[in-house]
Amino acid sequence: MPKMEKNRHAWWKEAVIYQVYPKSFYDSNNDGIGDIQGIIAKLPYLQELGITMIWVSPFYQSPMADNGYDIADYYAVNPDFGDMQDVENLIACAKEHGIQVMIDLVINHTSDEHPWFTQALAQPQSKYRDYYIFKPAINDAPPNNWRSIFGGSAWEKVAGEACYYLHTFHRKQPDLNWENPALREEIYAMITWWLEKGIAGFRVDAITFIKKDQDYGSLPADGIDGLVSIKWKSRNRPGIEVFLNELKERTFQRFGCVTVGEAPGVPLADYGQFIGPQGYFDMIFDFHAADIDVENGSEWFRRRDWTVKEFKQALFASQQAFIASGWGTTFIENHDQPRALSKLIRDPVFQNETGAKALAAMYFFMHGTPFIYQGQELGMKNFNRTRIEQFDDISSIDNYHRALTEGFTSAQALEFINQRSRDNSRTPFPWAKTINGGFNSGAQPWLEFTHRDFEINAEEQRHRSDSVFHFYQRLIQLRNLEYPEVLIYGNFSPLETHSDDIVAYARHTDNQRLISITNMSNTPLSYVIPVGEVLLNNYDSIDSNLKPYQTIIIKECVTNEQV
Ligand code: GLC
Ligand code: CA
Repeated sequence: MPKMEKNRHAWWKEAVIYQVYPKSFYDSNNDGIGDIQGIIAKLPYLQELGITMIWVSPFYQSPMADNGYDIADYYAVNPDFGDMQDVENLIACAKEHGIQVMIDLVINHTSDEHPWFTQALAQPQSKYRDYYIFKPAINDAPPNNWRSIFGGSAWEKVAGEACYYLHTFHRKQPDLNWENPALREEIYAMITWWLEKGIAGFRVDAITFIKKDQDYGSLPADGIDGLVSIKWKSRNRPGIEVFLNELKERTFQRFGCVTVGEAPGVPLADYGQFIGPQGYFDMIFDFHAADIDVENGSEWFRRRDWTVKEFKQALFASQQAFIASGWGTTFIENHDQPRALSKLIRDPVFQNETGAKALAAMYFFMHGTPFIYQGQELGMKNFNRTRIEQFDDISSIDNYHRALTEGFTSAQALEFINQRSRDNSRTPFPWAKTINGGFNSGAQPWLEFTHRDFEINAEEQRHRSDSVFHFYQRLIQLRNLEYPEVLIYGNFSPLETHSDDIVAYARHTDNQRLISITNMSNTPLSYVIPVGEVLLNNYDSIDSNLKPYQTIIIKECVTNEQV
């Protein structure tokens, strides 16, 4: 790839994207559920933080089995969140605040309550039958031994018929049949409809699952349930390129919108197909570093005793793959991940503001478009639930039961779930130290708060200059206003360190060099700090050693030979 092409400027490369989980952001009408009007009300806060785009998790009509990732109508808004007029107002108001709106595109599956699916069941002869994947039973059993991502067989029996339908995720999320051109046309029309509304683009959900191996064959079991993860037969499988190219050509490309594919299971060597000038998407999310603590992102009881060295290798390998192919994303949290502070910092003493800032400066200036997940900018942490009944997330409940089946005690199972539950990041946002943390004016929220003390809250941090909030604000200013050429478009080089526990890299152009150095451990470590201007430091001073979880951003004094 010629260097010029790689360094091409683009508006979405300059974005800083903030993920809003609408159910938990701000409940404007005090019914316990966050809503679109609530996002509108908080646009000034987001503008103050400095972000340039929001990615809003699904707000479509949905029975909410998977909190909106189970869509019953792509053209309607779930009444809990508001209506279409609210969404249009959000797009317009956000624009006035200098913020673009990206929405979630969930097209691997729908809800089982989508009219296509209900008609497919009610009238097996209708065209909708072929919008989904139905297969005959084999000896009264499912067609094969695939396990769904949320546990149990990936096949659900159709009542009154000797057949099953496929669901990669929950049984209330039947997979769409991408082999059917008529289904694909419906999807393209829907995407076009949304783009005409003026959204900036899409985060494309679970998109590497749309192509299934057409033999629908079983594989050797990988768990004591006799099943095998569906991913080996349905994730990034040969033939997916035909669908992804067509999707891009028929929709995204015509509008020049921005796209971010959720792309687990894509080997680094294949990134060139997914991103870059010829790629299916502008950027993808890479999960190698995010899932460092578990053997497999969806099986939380297979925990790994990971090292910072491995974490760093995963981060940098993804970076190199992004850079070689095009553009990437950089993130440490989202609505499927626990809080980074609890996951990446294992010493509770440093699960504090110092630690939160260390993680922030460590990931934010890597090559790619940075994402911030709501509450991350406050240094929010995981909760500690004591009973499985306190969880809402379907995958938490499934993982709990799978852990028991695999022989763990209920206390161990609960521990795994506390560490990994997706509910950790989905708790209502703490706006202030007032009733219900200012999430609403007193109604019981749909999900219990992380902590009822609301010690961590946005209002307090906005008014305190050394807060995590202000630290993020400063990171955004440095990247977008003060050093865009080097921090957005500059080269990226990992730096050698004596200690494996230091993550250090440089961003550099012909005449500037900025360095990010982070001690990812709870002990002081030696590092020769380069001479230069300290732009950011999460401690008051710099010694000969890096203090525990110290992070420093330095503008190096460069001579021409050095660059
Ligand atoms: C993606 C979403 C996740 C959802 C799943 C099924 O991984 O991020 O929240 O449960 O797809 O749609
Ligand atoms: Ca509400």
